Amino acid sequence: MIMEDFLYSVSAILPRKLEPIFELISLDFPYSLETINESIKVTTYSSESFEEAETYLKKIVELLTKDADLLNVDFFEREQINFYREKLNKDKYYNEYKKYLKPIKVLDKIIIVPNSSLGEEFDDFRIPVVFLSSLLAFGTGSHPTTRMCLEYLAEQNLKNKIVVDAGTGSGILAIAAAKLGAKRVVAFDKDQVAVSVARSNVKLNGVDDIVEVIEGELDLLESLKADILVANLTSEIILDNFSILANASVNRIGLSGFLKADEQEIIDRFSASLSEGIKKESSGWVFLEFRRV
Ligand SMILES: C[S@@+](CC[C@H](N)C(=O)[O-])C[C@H]1O[C@@H](n2cnc3c(N)ncnc32)[C@H](O)[C@@H]1O
Repeated sequence: MIMEDFLYSVSAILPRKLEPIFELISLDFPYSLETINESIKVTTYSSESFEEAETYLKKIVELLTKDADLLNVDFFEREQINFYREKLNKDKYYNEYKKYLKPIKVLDKIIIVPNSSLGEEFDDFRIPVVFLSSLLAFGTGSHPTTRMCLEYLAEQNLKNKIVVDAGTGSGILAIAAAKLGAKRVVAFDKDQVAVSVARSNVKLNGVDDIVEVIEGELDLLESLKADILVANLTSEIILDNFSILANASVNRIGLSGFLKADEQEIIDRFSASLSEGIKKESSGWVFLEFRRV
């Protein structure tokens, strides 16, 4: 018997004026946005169940309600939102979704390309190309925090360096580090789906001799030693795990995943034992580097 591979999706139609808020919220589950005239169709996905996809969509509605006043967007009635369920064939979903993904160039040093563009010619053959196959994990390169981490990696001389990518999602940062010359990269994530997506992206990019993907929590850092640690997490996760991150056996720590409002608290905590390095900001999101003196 042939088993069909399904995805469970739940969608809601929301006012288009809420669209800019998606630049401000960090979501570590799969979702897509489609503009339809003055509305946006927000869809969340789960390979497990409708209930899981619905939990994700409810989280989005909750975050949108909270952030709507930030942009002076009129309050919208969340009680009036209808949720629509659809069971999708996985291949069909990927093919549809890939149409929305465009290659993303980072500092003319690296280009992130969806798998659908595999085989296309790129204008500069010296640019390392990262291909992404699956879209079920965070990290397509379009989010400002991922882009700032990619920029940071592209600015470093990674030759002969060991890099750790904490919370790897799709594996995008780990693969970029390997393509930028790192000799070894350890990537880990607590989410099983992210781990399997990252492993398949690592293979697709032919860097499986350099990148090791492990399923695990941040306490894995206690047993790792590296030159550079990149961690694109939320401010809550960073602050909750402050001592594990600050005490990691690494020379440089690149942190992102938080907004300007949380920057000072993170600086205050980390600068007590580390010195401040490179800073970046994009669409209200912040990247901070700390160095071991
Ligand atoms: C915002 S995504 C970043 C993905 C990718 N590194 C990027 O830059 O686009 C954060 C990832 O961290 C993972 N994560 C969150 N808390 C974690 C923890 N305590 N230990 C390990 N991974 C964690 C999530 O599962 C998610 O895949």
